[in-house]
Amino acid sequence: MITVAADLADVDDVKKRVAALDVHIGLFVYDAASAPIGPFAETTEAQLATAAAVNVVAPLLLTKLFSTPMIQRGSGGIILMSSLAGGQGSPNLATYAATKAFNTILAEGLWKELAPLGLDVLVCTPGAILTPGYEQAESARRAPGTLSAAAVAEQALEALGNGPVVVPGVVNKMGRFMMTRLLSRRAAIGIMAKNTGGLS
Ligand SMILES: NC(=O)c1ccc[n+]([C@@H]2O[C@H](COP(=O)([O-])OP(=O)(O)OC[C@H]3O[C@@H](n4cnc5c(N)ncnc54)[C@H](OP(=O)(O)O)[C@@H]3O)[C@@H](O)[C@H]2O)c1
Repeated sequence: MITVAADLADVDDVKKRVAALDVHIGLFVYDAASAPIGPFAETTEAQLATAAAVNVVAPLLLTKLFSTPMIQRGSGGIILMSSLAGGQGSPNLATYAATKAFNTILAEGLWKELAPLGLDVLVCTPGAILTPGYEQAESARRAPGTLSAAAVAEQALEALGNGPVVVPGVVNKMGRFMMTRLLSRRAAIGIMAKNTGGLS
């Protein structure tokens, strides 16, 4: 295994480091995220720019970088990590949720577009996962359907090739169906507000 430490907010640097490696990448998983939590009014421009860089620019340009040789070889896999938060507006997580929506829509489009070229693209939209970031969030409480990171990873890998979307866990599948298919946008945002509105 080769490990490369890099700042994903600096994609040009990441690309240089990748170019220095002589490896074939068969599966690209973009998992990192920057999540400015709390009222938009109190979020700095720097935090917003970092969230856009890490959650939008990096997965977009690295998907371009890694998909190019995959398309040439006619095979490869790409998994982008999104979130149930990206299914509707999420007060006090508005920027993070919007960046996750970008990943969902990007992966859905590429799933269809790149399948004839031999690539499997998948977006993973989990609910709460017991990760360091989740546990350290000031107002985090164990939400219904919370999963381990291992369970989410296993379900995402199992779903690769059966995209475009995987929602790990039964509770989260039901939640996504309700929020995105049954409820009005206003109602869905209202429910999110009950969960995220107090985040600081
Ligand atoms: N946890 C949840 O409840 C939950 C729910 C839905 C979706 N997700 C998604 O699942 C994925 C993982 O979330 P998580 O909870 O594991 O997040 P996390 O605990 O906050 O960890 C974020 C990871 O991203 C890395 N990262 C952030 N900015 C970076 C940068 N500029 N350069 C390089 N690495 C950077 C962090 O590295 P360092 O540790 O070195 O800073 C860390 O490994 C994310 O895409 C998130 O949106 C999580």
